[in-house]
Amino acid sequence: MTPEGPKFVIQGLGGKRLLSGKLAVNGSKNDALQALSAVPLFAGIYKLKNVPEIEDINKLTEILVSLGIKLVSRKSHELIFDSSKLSNSSIDPEISKRLRGSVILTGPLIARTGSAYFPHPGGCVIGERPIDFFLDGFKTLGTKVTLEDKMYKIEAPKGGLKGAEIFFRYQSVTATETFMMAATLARGVTILKNCAIEPEIENLGNFLNKSGAKIEGLGTTTLKIRGGKLLHAPNVDYKILPDRIEAGSLIVLGALAAKKLEITNCEPKHLESLITWLRLSGVKITIKSNSVIVIENRSDPVFAPLKIRTHEYPGFPTDLQAIISVFLTQATGESKIFETIFEDRLHHLHILKEMGGNITVHDAHRATIIGPTPLQGRHVYSPDLRAGLAYVIAATIASGESVVHNVHYIDRGYERLEERLRQIGLNIKKE
Ligand code: EPZ
Repeated sequence: MTPEGPKFVIQGLGGKRLLSGKLAVNGSKNDALQALSAVPLFAGIYKLKNVPEIEDINKLTEILVSLGIKLVSRKSHELIFDSSKLSNSSIDPEISKRLRGSVILTGPLIARTGSAYFPHPGGCVIGERPIDFFLDGFKTLGTKVTLEDKMYKIEAPKGGLKGAEIFFRYQSVTATETFMMAATLARGVTILKNCAIEPEIENLGNFLNKSGAKIEGLGTTTLKIRGGKLLHAPNVDYKILPDRIEAGSLIVLGALAAKKLEITNCEPKHLESLITWLRLSGVKITIKSNSVIVIENRSDPVFAPLKIRTHEYPGFPTDLQAIISVFLTQATGESKIFETIFEDRLHHLHILKEMGGNITVHDAHRATIIGPTPLQGRHVYSPDLRAGLAYVIAATIASGESVVHNVHYIDRGYERLEERLRQIGLNIKKE
């Protein structure tokens, strides 16, 4: 990896629990990406609150404005759009190639304008990230799909999208979001089967229903959507959910390096899998209505090993797999990681091994971690935002200094991370 842009310089705690205090969780990147993608479904003013101030949201806002949507106001953690009219349906390839979440926008765009023109979206280095479910789904809804010099062109028939039945071959978060939104404007009824049931999807679906959409089955794997005309300007604001992956990451940081750490402004019921596993390992966790408190377990400081298998929600989130891998280097005994969602998301284990972890990667999906092993600080390179934060946590518990390069990946999804970690006692500088 070649270093590019700012980096974090972290003085490790050498396994001592010296952090303490409170950290508030920001709005969820992935909820915000779908909430912004919903803008073309409305012919009017649409206000979003608790929006995280992160790079991915700036990029998607740029794409919306390039489609002719008006950015009425942009305040701290709040955006107001007016999508009364759109001027074009070509998604800027320069931006969307690096932003996987921009693929969600294709659904509302085709539903609103009848066409979308976009490149294969980019994203992180965790796997091939195909979009066959999107292309097949749009064909099922009656569109023509062509690929000319690496740009997809999707064109709806004259009367617009026509409702149909779609079965997702895998439960796909963004495919579920995309077609739930497209179906709100398609003619007739659309049935989506084997849908993902992440909380963000239910949050969006409830909001759309408050704006005139007719979506049944929210929270289950089958959605039935009656299409209709453009949604009226919602009489409620869209409240972005707290980022459950950021909250989960901070809980693990607390478990490894804090006397006491309170994670506030989060939704504990979205973290049941992580909390259940951490408690099984011996982490002392107290839950309040919208905060989680991690307290040093003086009486029994030994963590038991775990066998973690990532799984679609409500199972263990793949986005926390790198984070829990750091934790398992400090658990006593043999732990297992089984990454079932993506085919290339174990890269961070090789880096943790170089820091001192006793790790065997068996294949693209499975690994064994034997702990506890002390970690040594070193230069590491963030390949994506989730592994990047895992490296920050590893650097925090390591002995000596670490330099985490390419933190622009971390800035894509986490707001002012180094400032917030300094508040709880970590010696971290951005250079
Ligand atoms: C969403 O990605 C998240 N991104 C990912 O978070 C998250 O890791 C993932 O869901 C799983 O929870 C956003 O919400 C923007 P999938 P998504 O479609 O929807 C395969 C982060 O760091 N698939 O649920 O792209 C796919 O390869 C990111 O915030 C197809 O085969 O993931 C995977 O094996 C990383 N064809 C499986 O489905 C398709 O057309 C599930 O992926 C689409 C997906």
